Amino acid sequence: MQVIEAFPPVENIANLQLNPDGGLRHLLTLKGLQKGLLIDLLDHAERFVAPPGRPAARSNSLAGRTVANLFFEPSTRTRASFDLAGKRLGADVLNLDVNTSSRKKGESILDTIYTLQAMQVDVMVVRDASAGVPAYIARHVDDHVSILNAGESDVSHPTQGLLDLLTIRQRKGRFENLVVAIVGDIAHSRVARSAAEGLDTLGVGELRLISPPMLAPDADDMPSAKLFDNLDEGLRDADVVMALRIQRERIGSLDGIPGIDEYFANYGISAERMRIAAPDAIIMHPGPMNRGIEIESALADSPASVITQQVANGVAVRMAVLERVCKSMDRR
Ligand code: CP
Repeated sequence: MQVIEAFPPVENIANLQLNPDGGLRHLLTLKGLQKGLLIDLLDHAERFVAPPGRPAARSNSLAGRTVANLFFEPSTRTRASFDLAGKRLGADVLNLDVNTSSRKKGESILDTIYTLQAMQVDVMVVRDASAGVPAYIARHVDDHVSILNAGESDVSHPTQGLLDLLTIRQRKGRFENLVVAIVGDIAHSRVARSAAEGLDTLGVGELRLISPPMLAPDADDMPSAKLFDNLDEGLRDADVVMALRIQRERIGSLDGIPGIDEYFANYGISAERMRIAAPDAIIMHPGPMNRGIEIESALADSPASVITQQVANGVAVRMAVLERVCKSMDRR
């Protein structure tokens, strides 16, 4: 049994994330975070990027701290990278097995959180299918606890946004005059929302969102983006192309969603399709990928693909965020 809980919206989430001195207290959303803070996080993450094959970056900066991973939705990349990030910084890391946790016996999420807080957990990394959970928890925890959003319904995935920004900056060196095209199920994508928020703050040249009409966002959802339902038009001269999977777990009825062959023909990104984009365009994907549906398998493994670089950057970004919130704990 799991109780049905309501998570009332929290006002001023952007302010809730910061200490009075401007340091990062929680990471709930990229929306409203200042450009300088985003750049600081990207610069800090660069320090933890090690070339492939070299030993991973390590430090003992989180010795004595405890990080708990609370994933109430499936995850491979985000959960594994938060786990590695905490351990590589010397923290104690607890991965709560939600399938055997007392939430299954009807315990509320706040009682779960208060239980871990009493065990002196400093950072709670939370993924949940319900909108509003990370901010709701952040509103209720003690001063010494930080909450990191590891994926919130279709609303927000801020560390994914940061790792996408870092990867784009590494490959393109800039955001200005850059055309970024995100393709697929935009309507249900927290990845697209966080990318759009971060790119907007960092001054991207142009953001295009390409999707079938039934998977398009509301017109006022990402107001600075241009919406396309024709893939070829949206890809024209794009510098960065990001493919997204269809978020079937968030779609009530699949009526009207094209079948695999039709979807790939109209919205799948292939090497041939990439010829419409800029000659040195990169292809990104947050994972998990559905090869042969939203992305051609050979393209995912091609030199244009930066997908494994995104994964590597995920660890570096999460190390940077953990260090920043723990540093601000020392000043509280
Ligand atoms: N990109 C991403 O969030 O992947 P996981 O669901 O595997 O964590």
